[in-house]
Amino acid sequence: MDNLPKTITFLGIETRCDETAASVVQFSNHGSSSANILSNIVFSQIDTHAPYGGVVPELAARQHLPLISGIIREAIATSGLSPQDFDGIAATAGPGLIGGVMIGLTTGKALASAWEKPFLPINHLEAHALTARMSEDVTFPYLLLLVSGGHCQLISVLGLGQYELLGQTLDDAVGEAFDKTAKFLGLPYPGGPQVEAAARLGDPSRFNLPRPMFGQNNLDFSFSGLKTALQQAAEKAAPLTQNDINDLCAGVQDSIIACLADRTGRAMQAFRSRHGSHKQFVVAGGVAANMAIRAQLSELAMQHDMELKVAPMALCTDNAAMVAWVGCEYMRAGKMPEQNEALKHEARARWPLDRL
Ligand code: KG4
Ligand code: ZN
Repeated sequence: MDNLPKTITFLGIETRCDETAASVVQFSNHGSSSANILSNIVFSQIDTHAPYGGVVPELAARQHLPLISGIIREAIATSGLSPQDFDGIAATAGPGLIGGVMIGLTTGKALASAWEKPFLPINHLEAHALTARMSEDVTFPYLLLLVSGGHCQLISVLGLGQYELLGQTLDDAVGEAFDKTAKFLGLPYPGGPQVEAAARLGDPSRFNLPRPMFGQNNLDFSFSGLKTALQQAAEKAAPLTQNDINDLCAGVQDSIIACLADRTGRAMQAFRSRHGSHKQFVVAGGVAANMAIRAQLSELAMQHDMELKVAPMALCTDNAAMVAWVGCEYMRAGKMPEQNEALKHEARARWPLDRL
């Protein structure tokens, strides 16, 4: 690795869902291992999808197209660098809404070919999984709880590109449970931050909501029953006052936290018995922005003699800095794929992390 450049600089591109994003990240190969984010431009389509209470795939794909070049140009200009300074280009290749993924991936491939730079197709889940390493001293192996709008998984991160799935949701993702709760209660999209804010003012014990999978002898999750129970409780209490909404949000969040803590506690035991002295526990994905969840998981980590690491709030939800960072990680480790293979990589709607 000694013949690697002193710095590694990547342009990252992200278009898998409702964010059009580009970023320039520089990894310094000497001294500290942290990333230098030279630019991180995220255009969110929230206003487009808000009236529908969720992301509309066709609208999302259509919006990326006119935006992508301008966002990339802005990311490069803000970084103060020019394309010849880049060591490589990384773009999300899945999993995600296929129309959006194709736009970012094709743009990344085209720029890599035109500028004659190495290209890396990125798995979005891997980007979330490695984000904490941008700012924290996180070393392999570590236990990962990935909680986003599309995923809820417990994973042993054994090394770069080596992920072992320990458990996952059998139905809805955690973020989805937050978003559906918000939609049902008439709160704006995206629901997670809204439910968290309402829950802060509510009484979590008023509605007796279920805790699916709690105590079960596996590491899986389930949230669809919670959604149904919430709907029934809300219908019974209708018409809803603001207090009712706050109490329902507090109840849902409380159940979600209890389930996450129960399943994660079991995973911590399993991880520690297999990996002995390794103590790092990383929470990633958009739901990691939730402060009540962070607080509970921090306490859980202490109980299990583990150390909680979370990426900065702005890097928890989807962005392109984490995409560029995966590029830096692979180049630093000397694990870049053959350029021919990379340029042939197709967009994937589904792409489990343990099948990289
Ligand atoms: O990682 P992300 O930006 O996109 C996906 O890859 O899915 O995660 C978005 C999800 C949404 O479901 C959103 O409601 C949720 O993360 N989220 C939150 C919070 N902030 C974002 N959920 C709970 N509490 C929050 N503060
Ligand atoms: Zn995500």
